[in-house]
Amino acid sequence: MLSPIDIKNRKLKGEKVSMITAYDYAFAQMAEAAGVDQILVGDSLANTMLGYKKTSDVGMNEMLVFVAAVCRGAPNTHVVADMPYLSDRDPQTAYDNARRFMDLGASSIKLEGTPEGVIEFLCGHGIPVCAHHGLLPQTAENFKQKGRTEEEAASIIKAAKFTDDLGCFEMVLEHIPEELGKRITGMVNAVTIGIGGGKFTDGQVLVMHDALGMHLGKNPPFAPKFVDMFALGVEGFRKYIENVKSAAK
Ligand code: KIV
Repeated sequence: MLSPIDIKNRKLKGEKVSMITAYDYAFAQMAEAAGVDQILVGDSLANTMLGYKKTSDVGMNEMLVFVAAVCRGAPNTHVVADMPYLSDRDPQTAYDNARRFMDLGASSIKLEGTPEGVIEFLCGHGIPVCAHHGLLPQTAENFKQKGRTEEEAASIIKAAKFTDDLGCFEMVLEHIPEELGKRITGMVNAVTIGIGGGKFTDGQVLVMHDALGMHLGKNPPFAPKFVDMFALGVEGFRKYIENVKSAAK
């Protein structure tokens, strides 16, 4: 299992880090069998697994079930547990919630933005933290690329530097211009993991349902599809139905 130190060593050696979301036992087993470096139990499960409209619709109780399932399915992989909306609203609440994830077997937690006093408290109490900058789905007003104006880019750089100085071992950079992803990657010690952050980040993350083609909707422009599991699943179900219907009475 890769520790935060191993992950940072990859940055030093220039080796890319692969992260993918997974949410349940079966897919965690699949991701581990494929050899992915890190599994993120993202709050994107609000959309992909539960059919909610916004990631902020999911809470701790639901996240705990999914994090536990993934830890059981991928016991030898670094599992990053995503802090759901408001679960990190103050340092003590964030610590108590992060602890619950770590006690289930998570290797680190991820949180969006720079909630006041939280990151220093978590890092100071032995919780490895992955930050998240750029597009922050829990609070974003829209899903447009962030950091296009000088002012917005400067504020993302400031947040990235701030969380780096606080000791985050890693940070997700979501939906920002490639040049900004490159700039931040060059200025922080933390490992940068891009999703729509260009090719220069230290690693990449994708939502499993986009990467494996598991939904009917359109992928975001930056998310490639590597297989069409939705079509494969429908085909399998149809074969099963045919098999049932054609069986002799
Ligand atoms: O919840 C999630 O899946 C995420 C990724 C988009 C990075 O935060």
